[in-house]
Amino acid sequence: MFVHITGTGSYLPERVVTNAELAAKLDTTDEWIYSHTGIRSRHIGADDESTSAMAVKAARAALASAGVAPEELGLIIVATSTSDYQAFPSTACLVQHELGAVNAACFDLQAACTGFIYALEAARGMLRQNPRPALVIGAEMMSRIVDWNDRNSCILFGDAAGAVVLEASHDVPGGIWHSILKADGSGSQLIVREGGARGLASGPWMQHTLQMKGRAVFNFAVKVFDEVLCGLLNRSGHTFADLACVIPHQANARIVEAVARRMEVPLETFYMNMETIGNSSAASIPVALDMAITSKKIKEGDLIAMVGFGAGLTYGGILMSWRGQAAKPALAAHPTA
Ligand SMILES: CC(C)(COP(=O)(O)OP(=O)(O)OC[C@H]1O[C@@H](n2cnc3c(N)ncnc32)[C@H](O)[C@@H]1OP(=O)(O)O)[C@@H](O)C(=O)NCCC(=O)NCCS
Repeated sequence: MFVHITGTGSYLPERVVTNAELAAKLDTTDEWIYSHTGIRSRHIGADDESTSAMAVKAARAALASAGVAPEELGLIIVATSTSDYQAFPSTACLVQHELGAVNAACFDLQAACTGFIYALEAARGMLRQNPRPALVIGAEMMSRIVDWNDRNSCILFGDAAGAVVLEASHDVPGGIWHSILKADGSGSQLIVREGGARGLASGPWMQHTLQMKGRAVFNFAVKVFDEVLCGLLNRSGHTFADLACVIPHQANARIVEAVARRMEVPLETFYMNMETIGNSSAASIPVALDMAITSKKIKEGDLIAMVGFGAGLTYGGILMSWRGQAAKPALAAHPTA
């Protein structure tokens, strides 16, 4: 069975926070942040905005671009580490209700910044059981969990949501070819956000902010990026030259540059938008995918790879060919359900 992405959408909150604005409150500068990260600004959600509200906006755009009605959906997965509620209800259930996607099973998936890659692969597997279209969303309100007094971490993150619609076919080749999902729990303490059931019997959830060992995470990211990308290409028998575009998790432009140097491949193949968006965790890859498609960096027939890494530690990637809207009539002519 082939599983295609047939629509994408994204949403960024209106408010833009520049490095200069951060430098007015922290011991940092625009020059330091840009030279160490490639980030100049990020979007931050309004006080009355929520992860689910952003997810719904990205989802509506993805459904419109796929030409799929909410009631056709059989599954909604929201990849997030910043769900509206600490445990339940899931953000996916809130999104389902807002959309009116009454036939969809719903759950959240937490694999930090690799969440969208994990969610995409989970949805691909579940489409075998229920071939109705699936909605996979990455949505994050990172601004609610970062420590705005910690110059080592807060400069990196932003808020965003990205979504894709997945549709299955037995006959229309293309879509997702290979995936790699991996984790290394031995690095679990490199990025931590406490406030869960472990050892914290009291205290409001929101007191706990993200804590990170930046340099160690940087080194981990460069190492596993190479491993995932080479692994995907080895499995498929392709070389880097066959790839039209690599969508990296938008953590830090210097990570991507280090990967390109290490693999001796042209930097231009990597799509980057962190300059104006920063690291939006699980939202970063679907937002970048949507922007790369909308800006025609990715065209019909292109072979692309998406690579994520993050807390857990988790990492992974997806290799797929993008058929774009051309897949839609073909899928309709060969219905799976
Ligand atoms: C966080 C990160 C930007 C820090 O950059 P770095 O080059 O590794 O810097 P270091 O942590 O080695 O710190 C070097 C110095 O810069 C300082 N520094 C850190 N942040 C700073 C800031 N915003 N402004 C000015 N100085 C800063 C440190 O305090 C340190 O000072 P010291 O030498 O006096 O102790 C970088 O490590 C990074 O991006 N790591 C990956 C993080 C990530 O992607 N996390 C999410 C993964 S999904």
